[in-house]
Amino acid sequence: MARITASVYTSHVPAVGAALDLGKTQEPYWQPVFHGYDFAKQWEKENPPDVVFLVYNDHATAFSLDMIPTFAIGTGAEFMPADEGWGPRPVPKVIGHPELAAHIAQSVIQDDFDLTIVNRMDVDHGLTVPLSLMFGQPEAWPCPVIPFAVNVVQYPVPSGRRCFNLGKAIRKAVESYDEPLNVQIWGTGGMSHQLQGQRAGLINREWDNAFLDKLIDDPEAAASIPHIDYVREAGSEGIELVMWLIARGAMSDIGGGPKPTLRHRFYHVPASNTAVGHLILENH
Ligand code: DHB
Ligand code: FE
Repeated sequence: MARITASVYTSHVPAVGAALDLGKTQEPYWQPVFHGYDFAKQWEKENPPDVVFLVYNDHATAFSLDMIPTFAIGTGAEFMPADEGWGPRPVPKVIGHPELAAHIAQSVIQDDFDLTIVNRMDVDHGLTVPLSLMFGQPEAWPCPVIPFAVNVVQYPVPSGRRCFNLGKAIRKAVESYDEPLNVQIWGTGGMSHQLQGQRAGLINREWDNAFLDKLIDDPEAAASIPHIDYVREAGSEGIELVMWLIARGAMSDIGGGPKPTLRHRFYHVPASNTAVGHLILENH
């Protein structure tokens, strides 16, 4: 059977992608950000997944106000990096895993979560920047990736509790797939940031670190954070953090298994307009 071996959490700041693509990683502004991912790149080499289930949000790139799926699973064979206004990032195309994605869709929809099935879409920085942070700059991504897009852009957005429960359903789906695959689940976005309005530039280190503490040790409490707290405390775009709860809900301890091991924790301010947060939790 397939297994979720680890969960990875990371911000997806688009300027991080630009810094990488333009060879600026050693500049004084960016060096501490990329240094925070040195461990992750080594860890991925030592613990290579067969498949990454990558929870991210589309930023009005593949979807628009014409169509707003709350949860969308990429079941296609491949996904091209999107043109976000400056041309597509010069990164490899993303190879999907249609069989596992279709199985997860079947299982999760029968478990009462309404997913939108997407056979064709381009993927933006929400997905490609985490791949670059974790895998560096390879000729091809080292494994297939199942894109899982969550609407955190256009209201109404899903609650943290619903995301957490969806994570549980995803774990059940993966564990009922009849092939011994090592699957990592990644939750991306955040941490505190607000890109518009009077509070543009908001960062809340204290709240972000309390969120990381809760996510690691008291995920039930993290899942109970009401929507308004994200917006008030972490800014309008801080709501991206509900996607981390999907990955956390998919860990074994939520289903009564042993607590995961914290392999890495990193927090840095600023990167562009954002506080960067990053965790690796390993299942036993
Ligand atoms: C920024 C961060 C984001 O998460 C995003 O999607 C766009 C911009 C920023 O920090 O500039
Ligand atoms: Fe974003």
